[in-house]
Amino acid sequence: MNNIKMVCPCLFGLESVLTRELKYIDAQNIKATDGKVFFEGSFETLIDANINLRTAERVLIVMNEFKATSFEELYQGVFLIDWGNFINKNDKFPVKGWTLNSVLKSEPACQSIIKKAVVEKLKKTYKTSWFEETGALYQIQFSIQKDNVLIMLDTSGAGLHKRGYRKSTVLAPIKETLAAGIVSLSRVNSKSSVCDPCCGSGTLLIESALWALKIAPGLNRRFVAEDWNAMSDSDWNLGRQRAISKINKDSSFMAFGSDIDPEAIEIAKINAKRAGISSRINFQTKSIQDLEFLDFKNSQDFEKSNFIVLTNPPYGERLLEVNQAREIYKLLGQKFLNNNLNNNLYVISPDEDFEKILGSRATKRRKLYNGMIKCQLYMYF
Ligand SMILES: C[S@@+](CC[C@H](N)C(=O)[O-])C[C@H]1O[C@@H](n2cnc3c(N)ncnc32)[C@H](O)[C@@H]1O
Repeated sequence: MNNIKMVCPCLFGLESVLTRELKYIDAQNIKATDGKVFFEGSFETLIDANINLRTAERVLIVMNEFKATSFEELYQGVFLIDWGNFINKNDKFPVKGWTLNSVLKSEPACQSIIKKAVVEKLKKTYKTSWFEETGALYQIQFSIQKDNVLIMLDTSGAGLHKRGYRKSTVLAPIKETLAAGIVSLSRVNSKSSVCDPCCGSGTLLIESALWALKIAPGLNRRFVAEDWNAMSDSDWNLGRQRAISKINKDSSFMAFGSDIDPEAIEIAKINAKRAGISSRINFQTKSIQDLEFLDFKNSQDFEKSNFIVLTNPPYGERLLEVNQAREIYKLLGQKFLNNNLNNNLYVISPDEDFEKILGSRATKRRKLYNGMIKCQLYMYF
């Protein structure tokens, strides 16, 4: 099937990064709006999107888009869809979603109207009055914003940030999709030497390595649409082979991760191993105060001209902790700017005085959300 309309939600601020990723997998008619990017393509595109996209939260098929200010309009818009093209007689089709700034305000009421419309349509299709719902999962999602209804089918299952490598975690890990966005914005490439002096469980460095080596983040996980009839196992295998054929084994990428917490470093090492890139990252327990340029400069793989520092330092919540976090910001400026190290520094922080404390204005800034925390990516290059 060609011309399937799809949409990927993403974190606010990463729409342009996701758009670039979609171009790379040859998606068509790409249109970005706040927090999501629409595109079109075939089942092949759907498979490639799930396996390859780094900043998308999931891949959804858009089944219909319409305006509704009454339950009747909502019912009719859902009833119009040929659900039998996807959902078989025994499949599960739960409904979830949200409404915002719309006449139809009650989410549970919308949910039951949508479910009823799908059931009535499938009753006609399959000439039955009872659905077991024991088969493959077709999660129906709806969103109603300013009376505009989107009815979607989720093809991913677990969110795409779940790459499969992060079984162990530290206290405040950065989401993999956000880390991948930061990696893209910081222009990591196949020759980069990347350092994170507050690396925690290593997410920024692992995502950097996957990016630099062009290893698709979804290679080692399953997607819910793999259970659907619309695509065969061999379609998914071909998708995985396409992704494997793009891996850049000649990349000279190297990374250096350090953290004051030895437990975090142990976890980072385990995660890197699970991601299959542990040979590319050196981890050590060290506080940023003690970090010397020699720590990475002595490495034979270190390339000064391609050196990039990416970090998600502690933010601090109480006053004392804020001051401790600010000490680290100062050190980032002292150690990684205005020295012989190429001055490529990318820090995500919610602190509005970050630049003042670090002592230098960022070349560029980008508003990003780390969970619910409004942050900026401060970019020095
Ligand atoms: C927000 S977390 C980073 C999480 C990481 N991005 C991840 O995905 O797991 C901040 C990290 O800074 C580390 N840290 C705090 N003080 C430090 C210091 N003085 N030197 C180095 N690391 C420090 C903490 O141990 C913590 O792992």
